[in-house]
Amino acid sequence: MGKRYYIETYGCQMNFADSEVVASILNKSGLEVTSEIQNADLILVNTCSIRDNAEQRVWGRLDLFRSIKRKKSSVMIGVLGCMAERLKEQLLESDRGVDLVVGPDAYRDLPSLVNTVEEGHKAVNVLLSREETYADISPVRMESNGVSSFISIMRGCNNMCSYCVVPYTRGAERSRDPKSILGEAKELFDRGYREVTLLGQNVDSYYWSPNDSGDNHVTFPELLEMVASISPLLRVRFSTNHPKDFSNELLTVMARHHNICKHIHLPVQSGSSTTLSRMNRRYTREWYLERVNAIKNILPDCTISTDIIAGFCGESDEEHNETLSLMKEVEFDFAYMFKYSERPNTKAARHFKDDIPEEVKTSRLNEIIDLQNSLSASGKKKDIGKTYEVLVEGVAKKAIAGLTMTGRTSGNKVVVFESSDVRPGDYALVTIEKATSATLTGVLKEKTHKAKDKI
Ligand code: SAH
Ligand code: SF4
Ligand code: F3S
Repeated sequence: MGKRYYIETYGCQMNFADSEVVASILNKSGLEVTSEIQNADLILVNTCSIRDNAEQRVWGRLDLFRSIKRKKSSVMIGVLGCMAERLKEQLLESDRGVDLVVGPDAYRDLPSLVNTVEEGHKAVNVLLSREETYADISPVRMESNGVSSFISIMRGCNNMCSYCVVPYTRGAERSRDPKSILGEAKELFDRGYREVTLLGQNVDSYYWSPNDSGDNHVTFPELLEMVASISPLLRVRFSTNHPKDFSNELLTVMARHHNICKHIHLPVQSGSSTTLSRMNRRYTREWYLERVNAIKNILPDCTISTDIIAGFCGESDEEHNETLSLMKEVEFDFAYMFKYSERPNTKAARHFKDDIPEEVKTSRLNEIIDLQNSLSASGKKKDIGKTYEVLVEGVAKKAIAGLTMTGRTSGNKVVVFESSDVRPGDYALVTIEKATSATLTGVLKEKTHKAKDKI
């Protein structure tokens, strides 16, 4: 029997998609996956560096892995992903028993690096690439519900937001060949999947050209339209958009296709133009609000979510209040909210002081969270009485005898409803009766295997 590996993933959806590429590479080289860490010959952790607490969690896991290795010395421990890229040899030099350090662009090298470790050496490959997109590797779907899946369409980031570590851990931006993206989406659809999410740090700057002349190049709105055309039964989502590059052309394509989900994740980070400038986001508050108006005009039913950072370097009370006022103006449906965490060697770390006291960061973040909770709750209240097309994903966690099903609306809201005869992958029309801050509850109006053009 081949050696067994166990893999654990932290961080963004792209990291989860990468773990599926890693699994594909390892399976091909004769290793076998195990979900039991105690049975593994090779323990891998795919890591995130976005905030200090993300890294601290991984250090905690490495402590545990070391205790496993103390009982079974043949176990190999590997660190993959963004922390591997950021800390490189430091990870091997730590006392955690790490044998293998592999950056996000070096996964093809994993089988030979694992051999090196088996021969008794430590192994590192953290080379970043300008070309690697793993286009030809068919990811092994892990932890999937069999209905929705992710597809990486690009890697890296060229934006250099001053607080962000991603351009250093993931390298320069590059786009994947649309043929391989379409092939992957089509294969998923044929296997019964009904939703794909196209992933990139800044999908609006997707650009692929078969040659240097730029003839026959493909842009993101064009790619999106191609994927949406695979079948009207295949829902298409995408993430993340960057406000500076977010175009009306994209909105027009979304309006043309019922199966392109009406949800946009448009991270604002701050509602203050001066803070945005220190963040090097390259748009202003006014620009952002204008983009939101474009969404509301062209796609009136589209939901909008965002990311917000509280307590960035030099943030004054007025600047913080501008974030609160922007949130009220936009009425975000959902938000990911964070305290600023200084990342070593980023532009902000080099040029600005992390001068907002921890208590102030905490109180600002709490204000932001409280406001968002009330915005999300009032947004959901407005859904009561409406009928939504829900793509059924599975049985809800608190299901009684399999009767309670869960799914999501096109706008990405979770809906729970009673039914004994819908299956994952079905579309169902559900009328909303109740709303909590996180979930909508409704009654099944009509079950259909088909997406409706109009409700
Ligand atoms: N590429 C995406 C998101 C990247 S990371 C974008 O540009 O929007 C996801 C989110 O983490 C960011 O949107 C930001 O809100 C947050 N983030 C990034 N660096 C951070 C830092 N140093 N401290 C706190 N939050 C951070
Ligand atoms: Fe980081 Fe900015 Fe790139 Fe997003 S766009 S990954 S926040 S540098
Ligand atoms: Fe984290 Fe790397 Fe993603 S830093 S957020 S895993 S790109």
